[in-house]
Amino acid sequence: MMSPFTIAIDGPAAAGKGTISKAVAAHFDLAHLDTGLLYRAVGARMLMGEEPISAAQTLVAADLENPDLRTAEVAQSASKVAVIPEVRAALLDFQRAFARRAGGAVLDGRDIGTVICPQAEVKLFVTASPEVRAQRRLAELTERGFETDFDTVLADVKARDDRDMNRADAPLRPADDAVVLDTSELGIEEAVAIAVKTISAARD
Ligand code: DC
Repeated sequence: MMSPFTIAIDGPAAAGKGTISKAVAAHFDLAHLDTGLLYRAVGARMLMGEEPISAAQTLVAADLENPDLRTAEVAQSASKVAVIPEVRAALLDFQRAFARRAGGAVLDGRDIGTVICPQAEVKLFVTASPEVRAQRRLAELTERGFETDFDTVLADVKARDDRDMNRADAPLRPADDAVVLDTSELGIEEAVAIAVKTISAARD
């Protein structure tokens, strides 16, 4: 399949976007871009004292290899730099080119179906209740050796939701033509199966 075929997967933090995106990319043999990593890389450079707009404008591939990008501190910082229109603008062309690359692509983030690639052939909005998302994130952080607790993680999830949904530029929301997938009551395999079925239907 050489013509562009873009799958846009948006949703709030810890709803299962990343897991679903990786599984879908593997299933359909498509390239995958976790766009949150771009904002995390800018956020990490801001935590090291850089000015976020110039960090976004000079981002290089090596920034995405930083092992600290998955920490809760960097996640909050990413959500803060993501409010700045010039930061979003600096990351736009790279994401758009990736979305329309030959062979097709899966992008996950907050604004893929609404701003980055409104012409995406399939749009999924993956969501779950804040409590379920906090529980999943807590399990993940605990497994990776971070010491934290449910209330702290829930507060973090809600703070990020609030900032991501209420910013003026490219706020988190489902595109009008997105299929909403609520994973609150679903296991990983069930959620992936629904996503694969939705995408298969759009490809035929
Ligand atoms: O998906 P994530 O948790 O890695 O994203 C980290 C932050 O980056 C998120 O809270 C908001 C921002 N982000 C964004 O504004 N737009 C995107 N397409 C992806 C992430």
